[in-house]
Amino acid sequence: MNRWLLLAGLPLALTAHTAHATSIYAGQARAAAVCSQCHGIKTPSAEAPFPPLAGRDADYLQTALKQYRDKTRKSDIMNAIAGSLTDNDIANVAAYYAKLKP
Ligand code: HEC
Repeated sequence: MNRWLLLAGLPLALTAHTAHATSIYAGQARAAAVCSQCHGIKTPSAEAPFPPLAGRDADYLQTALKQYRDKTRKSDIMNAIAGSLTDNDIANVAAYYAKLKP
């Protein structure tokens, strides 16, 4: 019973400022499967100059991803990747990376 309360409370605590139930767990899964190939989890791949994401401000990350998605910020790579993300995906992945210590 206590466990239920914890599980129910966590997403709410993380998303007081958004309408969606943000999940750092979903964000982590997506980061591991997709984003980490270039950005790494904590340290970007050394082979190319990918910006680090760990510990960055969640609002900054969300804004950047939405700009890539609507192509007001140009990057062939990130326009393609962000194009398939929903608002909720963006909130999840931003919450996950923001919580990581750089
Ligand atoms: C194939 C490589 C690649 C993958 C995979 C990738 N990115 Fe990127 N990302 C880039 C590159 C290159 C840039 C720099 C683009 C530019 O010049 O604006 C970038 C930039 C960004 C920025 C802007 C950072 C800043 O400092 O402004 C964010 C945020 C970001 N990516 C998030 C993500 C997320 C979240 C994912 C997974 C859903 C992801 N990226 C997957 C290559 C990648």
